[in-house]
Amino acid sequence: NKTENQMLVIFGASGDLTARKLVPAIVSLAQDGYLPENFVVLGASRTPYSDGEFRKKVVLESKYLDEKMENGQEKFLAEFSDKLFYHELSDDQSSDYAPLKKRMESLNSDYGTDANYMFYLSTPPSAYGPISKNLYNQGLTEEDQGWRRLIVEKPFGYSLKSAKELNEKLHRYFKESQIFRIDHYLGKETVQNLLVTRFANSIFEPLWNRHYIHHVEITSAESGGIGKRGKYYDKSGALRDMFQSHLLQIVALIIMEPPLSADAEEIRNEKLKALKSLRIMTDPEVLRRDTIRAQYISATVDGKEVKGYRQEENVDPESKTETYAALKFYVDNWRWADVPFYVRTAKRMPTKVTEAVIHFKTPHHQIFKDSSMHSKDNKLIIRIQPDEGILIKFGVKVPGQGFKVERANLDFYYSSLTDSHVMEAYERLLLDAMQGDATLYARADEVEAAWAFVDPILKYWKDSNQNVYGYSAGAWGPKNADELLEGHHTWRNPGEQ
Ligand code: BG6
Repeated sequence: NKTENQMLVIFGASGDLTARKLVPAIVSLAQDGYLPENFVVLGASRTPYSDGEFRKKVVLESKYLDEKMENGQEKFLAEFSDKLFYHELSDDQSSDYAPLKKRMESLNSDYGTDANYMFYLSTPPSAYGPISKNLYNQGLTEEDQGWRRLIVEKPFGYSLKSAKELNEKLHRYFKESQIFRIDHYLGKETVQNLLVTRFANSIFEPLWNRHYIHHVEITSAESGGIGKRGKYYDKSGALRDMFQSHLLQIVALIIMEPPLSADAEEIRNEKLKALKSLRIMTDPEVLRRDTIRAQYISATVDGKEVKGYRQEENVDPESKTETYAALKFYVDNWRWADVPFYVRTAKRMPTKVTEAVIHFKTPHHQIFKDSSMHSKDNKLIIRIQPDEGILIKFGVKVPGQGFKVERANLDFYYSSLTDSHVMEAYERLLLDAMQGDATLYARADEVEAAWAFVDPILKYWKDSNQNVYGYSAGAWGPKNADELLEGHHTWRNPGEQ
């Protein structure tokens, strides 16, 4: 694909994300030769930086680029930083936008970016509306000369209602085809590989249904706590922060029907259908039984005392916000009827890992009398991170007399495929948007379908006084979460089994 000349305008450029993720991703794209010939970045936010100060902050003296500075890259980076500019602006101050437009026009004519403008909103969602409106009022969303695109960060809304309002606002000023909603999990190689595993092979798809799959389990654990994000996190919680976006995208890729082609709209149509087939939980009894929330409590982890969630900075000492969420749910369609899905995500777990496990059914007729057969059912484990790869567990005969069955592993590691640099999620997503490819971005209707599933759970948790369990920091969550699995199985704690 061709990357046309363009200007990337980052709103909220003085914030952490620009230095930590965006600029390093652009630097990697530059190092790998993916940037177009004429390309500039214009950072815009309230902090009064000069171009030079901005370049120092995000490139020349950035701790996030230390690695990229190795191997004599200093000269390359110094030249690269000349493509970065800064403009002071208040997101919601409409009078600031005529000068911004002027600045963009002058950079455009000096650097030949063909009036192709990519707006990246790295700001709180409350600023999306005002920024879009101000850009629109300046005629900057109009695609009369070059193209105009808008990338928005998550969280996309706070509830179904707010997500709808946000979509409505953005649609007043931009067409859906101009809007790119980031879900950085879609930029991960192994998440994309889910599509390839399913639809480029003939050995899995015939089994990918209720006849052969017993249940599906997804774990997304982080060892870290909430760090300095208390203010955001305490209003959000694990269900909004991880589940509504990243985990439901993974669920959608696992349950979707085969798309007609790998075209962005075809894939997104199928994902939408998949998300709409999630059984929405409304019965309080089901919500009580099938949803679990918990918070980490202070404990000693690796010899160090770790704070409990309620003691974290900017967290209400009586907060009920969950740092752990586990759900059991069903997918109401022909393929998945009666197959339970168990999904959990949490902070302060023993390790950082994301994986999906497809548990196949026990053979219908067992001829080998081995009482522990159940725990040896076939599993397909998709390791999303770390150690990206795919593991298949299957039964083999233990050498010797009789028919004792053991589990063997067929294990594939992504790292064995290539020594070359695998694109980081932000790199891949930015490059796709720069080329106008929205396959790995969430569409308005998908985001709303995901909220429609999550909303009743959040409401139930808020209104019902459902227990907020505690789990020790560094543990695999509260004991009660095992009850979700109804005693037939236990959670697969990666690294332990
Ligand atoms: C973000 C969440 O979207 O994803 C964070 O807001 C979380 O709370 C992060 O830590 C996890 O992403 P990754 O790529 O590190 O697994």
